[in-house]
Amino acid sequence: MKNYVAPSLLAANKDKLLEEIKLAEDSGAEFLHYDVMDGKFVENVSFSLEEFKQIAKKHKMINDVHVMISDPDVQAIEYAKAGAGIVTFHLEAFTCPSCMSKVINEIHKHNTKVGISIKPNTPVRYLVPFLKVIDLVLIMSVEPGKGGQAFIKSALKKIKFLRKYINKHQLDVLIEVDGGINDITGPLARKAGADILVAGSYLFGHDDFKKRLEKLR
Ligand code: DX5
Ligand code: ZN
Repeated sequence: MKNYVAPSLLAANKDKLLEEIKLAEDSGAEFLHYDVMDGKFVENVSFSLEEFKQIAKKHKMINDVHVMISDPDVQAIEYAKAGAGIVTFHLEAFTCPSCMSKVINEIHKHNTKVGISIKPNTPVRYLVPFLKVIDLVLIMSVEPGKGGQAFIKSALKKIKFLRKYINKHQLDVLIEVDGGINDITGPLARKAGADILVAGSYLFGHDDFKKRLEKLR
């Protein structure tokens, strides 16, 4: 198990994005979490591909791109080309498993890792058939779409299940958790077996960013 942290740019001050990115990097974050929302898969709209291109190469953290979009089969690949280290799409955005396999292969062709995310109401067992061919699972601990929501505890059960399964089958898959992470829920997620904690509102906008990040280790 790893103890990585991925600050979520969604909560950063957009007027000084590069400064915020530097703060995350200087504080020791390994990943930079980048939320893409299209106003269809989720209600809100957030960062775009163009904005991603402007920041993707301005730091040395791994670009951890979480696409909450309805057509990842079309767009996910563009993020891989533009410098994403990981592209994670939602299982719920697909209707057929073979379409998902196709996207996974396409992303891998660009030497980019692939993650699959599930929403709070999606059973964790749906991820099992893909664990041998992906690099990361992203367990949503809030409904995707906005920051600052409360952690949904049923995510812990999913993380525990995955940790057990991944260890038992010796799979090389990271477990990431996203939504409502703070100094109370973060340690619970670690204890359950999460490798990467995504945190937005708990980190950005606070003077003690680095101290807070260290509490998530
Ligand atoms: C929500 C996003 C999260 C969000 C988390 O849909 O996927 O990455 O930024 O925000 P907090 O940490 O504030 O819950
Ligand atoms: Zn996210």
